[in-house]
Amino acid sequence: MKKMLLLCVSLLVVLGIMGCGADKGKAEEKPAGTPQATNSAPAPAAKSKILVAYFSATNNTKQLAETTAKALGADLYEIRPAKPYTREDLNYNDETTRATVEQKDDKARPELADHNGPIAEHDTIILVHPIWWGQEPRIMDTFVESYDFTGKNMTNICTSGGSDIGTSGDYLQKLTKGKANWKPGKLFSKDASEAEIKNWFKALGF
Ligand SMILES: Cc1cc2nc3c(=O)[nH]c(=O)nc-3n(C[C@H](O)[C@H](O)[C@H](O)COP(=O)(O)O)c2cc1C
Repeated sequence: MKKMLLLCVSLLVVLGIMGCGADKGKAEEKPAGTPQATNSAPAPAAKSKILVAYFSATNNTKQLAETTAKALGADLYEIRPAKPYTREDLNYNDETTRATVEQKDDKARPELADHNGPIAEHDTIILVHPIWWGQEPRIMDTFVESYDFTGKNMTNICTSGGSDIGTSGDYLQKLTKGKANWKPGKLFSKDASEAEIKNWFKALGF
């Protein structure tokens, strides 16, 4: 009798343990489609709403564009011509060379290397370019005419050998067909500091 009692108690203990184990397993199960906790990998960094889109033939403007992107936490996109400018193309002492011929013709539209400018993903677009014969290079005109800037906050900044920003901003704004919220631009040194750039754009409300 004693043995029977001991056997029953042992059986109850074993069944109890199995029951607990089964419940524990169930508690850890998740219905299909339940989002899993993601505390193992960091969340991807949020994309900036500002895009710095630049063209640079000899890297001065590239330097300004990179400092601007850093100062504003912006994304960077390089506007590249399908046919890169050679040193000879850029020789403004010879009026028959490519860049100068293009600048004399306000209808010239050098082809772009790609049409992947991430315009739709950004609210604010800052165009950055050198001054060629007092204006923006024609490749900037091709770029602006190739995208829809409706509702975007926009401006242009530039580098030069000494000339001011000239009419480049007015002309680029015209090419957006009045669809962008255009702000006045500014000439910077290629060596402009992050603080100087930050202050300018803060005053613009960017
Ligand atoms: C074809 C051409 C025309 C230029 N015209 C001017 C000009 O009218 N005024 C000026 O100050 N600098 C002029 N420059 C000098 C550039 O604006 C200056 O070197 C600029 O910083 C170059 O930028 P990048 O190195 O990004 O190409 C001209 C340069 C080139 C190649």
